[in-house]
Amino acid sequence: MIKSKAQKRRERRFKLVKARGELQSALDKYSISLGNTNSLGNTNSLGFLNDDEYIQTTRDDDYIQTTRDDEYLQTTRDDEYIQTTRDDEYLQTTENKESNTLDNWSLDRLPKNMHKYYHQRYSLFSLFDHIKIDMEGWFSVTPEQIAIHLANRLKGGTIIDAFCGVGGNTIQFAKKCDKVIAIDNNKTRLECAKHNARVYGCENIEFIHGDYMQLDLKADKVFLSPPWGGISYNQSEFSIDDMPIKGTDIFNRTKRITNDICFFLPRNLKKEELMFEDVEFEETFLDGKLKSYSVYYGNLINRH
Ligand SMILES: C[S@@+](CC[C@H](N)C(=O)[O-])C[C@H]1O[C@@H](n2cnc3c(N)ncnc32)[C@H](O)[C@@H]1O
Repeated sequence: MIKSKAQKRRERRFKLVKARGELQSALDKYSISLGNTNSLGNTNSLGFLNDDEYIQTTRDDDYIQTTRDDEYLQTTRDDEYIQTTRDDEYLQTTENKESNTLDNWSLDRLPKNMHKYYHQRYSLFSLFDHIKIDMEGWFSVTPEQIAIHLANRLKGGTIIDAFCGVGGNTIQFAKKCDKVIAIDNNKTRLECAKHNARVYGCENIEFIHGDYMQLDLKADKVFLSPPWGGISYNQSEFSIDDMPIKGTDIFNRTKRITNDICFFLPRNLKKEELMFEDVEFEETFLDGKLKSYSVYYGNLINRH
């Protein structure tokens, strides 16, 4: 039977409403509150992309994401990790008892849509067997070869790694710069970054637990690898002002420190949004695939 467009739309809408119900049940079951934004209808706290494919919820430094396809619904929140599996017959909810463990990862501790990161683990960190990483770290860390390239472009002096995560970039900057100031507002990830820096033998790093946007710092250059918006950020078009912290605000804040800025952003960025001033866009490929853009300003622009 050929379905009309309106019928397909109705079906998509129905699935979405159902997914929202499931998300709410999962959140209720584990007493996860969205704080001030406990209404799932609140557009600030809930993002819908590709209609029935997933729902994503972010709030301040907390992070909740629910991914849904025909097979599962998954909810992660910082140290907590909840996965709800659904197929046509049943809804099964499991709580990962080892959710606070940051090492000894194995495939079965990761949801299906993140298995690809596990297979790439030695590209993320060549010393992966010794590092600590949390659930968000898995999909947000800069792969080592890209981090090495960035460190070569940004070498020398004091650098701020404003959103250091589990330390993928920080470690490589430490090898090429005199000093790194590494900031993250998530304690768990900052602790991972400290541990990982020790594994790589880096000592010239000052770690700060705090909100980069509120800190008053001095440095020669700043590297910005802000959260893009979760594992499912890759909408057809990415806008820097749709990130959890607006890209324009991050840029303006950073200009108070230095003109020498590098922004690390998704491959589907809108270049025109980043033309605040003279700028260089550098495509970053990994395994032959366009992965991201590094966007350079000030003296970081390669003028040769
Ligand atoms: C994309 S990840 C950075 C990944 C990092 N480049 C790496 O290689 O591991 C972004 C990080 O920014 C942190 N973050 C979010 N908002 C922040 C803020 N206002 N100040 C500092 N860190 C923040 C998140 O906790 C997350 O760890």
